[in-house]
Amino acid sequence: MRPLAAHYDRVQEYPWEIKKELCDAGLMGIWVPEEFGGAGAGVLNLCIVVEELSRACGGVGVLYAVNALGSFPILVAGTDEQKQRFLPSVTSGEKLIAFGLSERDAGSDAGGMTTTAREDGDAYVIDGAKKWTTNGGAADLYTVFAVTDPNSRSRRLSALIVEKGDPGFEFGRVEDKMGIRCVPVVELNFDGCRVPKDRLLGGRPGMGFKHAMMTLDRARPGVAAQAVGLAQGALDYALAYTTRRKQFGQTLTGFQMIQQMLADMATKVEAARQLVYASARMIDAGARDITSGAAKAKLFATNVAMEVTTNAVQLFGGYGYMRDYPVEKFMRDAKITQIYEGTNQIQTLVIARNLIKKASQLDHLAEYMPLPDHENTLANRAEAKPTA
Ligand code: CAA
Repeated sequence: MRPLAAHYDRVQEYPWEIKKELCDAGLMGIWVPEEFGGAGAGVLNLCIVVEELSRACGGVGVLYAVNALGSFPILVAGTDEQKQRFLPSVTSGEKLIAFGLSERDAGSDAGGMTTTAREDGDAYVIDGAKKWTTNGGAADLYTVFAVTDPNSRSRRLSALIVEKGDPGFEFGRVEDKMGIRCVPVVELNFDGCRVPKDRLLGGRPGMGFKHAMMTLDRARPGVAAQAVGLAQGALDYALAYTTRRKQFGQTLTGFQMIQQMLADMATKVEAARQLVYASARMIDAGARDITSGAAKAKLFATNVAMEVTTNAVQLFGGYGYMRDYPVEKFMRDAKITQIYEGTNQIQTLVIARNLIKKASQLDHLAEYMPLPDHENTLANRAEAKPTA
């Protein structure tokens, strides 16, 4: 991948030859259980693969990881029949899968989407548009979220599988991006797109929002792993460069300021990696509460990626700013990890909400820290007031 990364970044085309290598190596869909054609390797191994790919090219990292994002709704919510029908072609690499949640006016507020899926006889008819679907156009299968009950607050959405070629389903604008340029990010347009009812995930409408959130809980460590790989890849290049580049008669690593930067970068990359692995292990262990761990991993690792890749450019100096050198691509690729699959502001909100929700478990600490009694405090103050 390393010799090809700059080329695909420049031409902004899907690297089918790399995807073929991933298939030949048996890496597609390894996170899927064996009974549905996968390797049953779980989220931790998914993360390790994404990290290693991203170490060479962040675009290839997401090109691979986004298949997990697209397939998790089937794993989380699909019936056995749906899992048998759709997953083996994903794990063999015959089909790529993508995820359609965001819309032009519904990014962070995913529940505010307006794409509808209306029941009509033996089918659902989808109308609307999705925005920023990674792998769009390249993928054959799309997990699409749509409003099935506009009058409900908590049971408003459902997820359906849409296939490339379904009548009324077209690809719209292909985005021209800052980074991850080898993987397409496109709009999906639905105009009276009719899909049979057996493509409704789980066979029961109304659970879409919950299933989207459960999917993101499982997929966010993958973005975090992409960030770790990008940070590690940039650090690798920075180390290779600073141990060779000479200024003032010595290599850059002879200067303590440079040593400090490298040590700080390496420490943060390792901390991020361990947080990602911990969150992935929790998911694989079937822990009940995985939301916060996934959000923390994504928040921390993606911020580390941005900082470390920016510092790598700094260490390369003027050369780092030029396209002839690989590090500026790492910095461009890293930026999106702070944005997609939930901005880092949303991750912060998720972490804070979960933290506060669990605060009642700390009620026993109250006896050690009685809150100030406002009335008494005022009274005490009055009592203590010196008289003239
Ligand atoms: N697991 C299960 N259920 C969950 C859940 C979770 N992690 N989080 C929330 N829910 C449930 C709640 O319990 C609640 O259920 P009830 O109605 O039964 O009480 C319901 O979902 C609504 O929850 P909230 O009130 O918390 O929902 P909200 O509207 O306040 O939104 C949010 C919460 C965290 C902000 C959420 O909207 C969110 O994560 N937004 C970001 C969306 C996102 O990540 N988009 C990226 C799309 S993918 C992408 O980037 C494209 C790509 O191709 C890579």
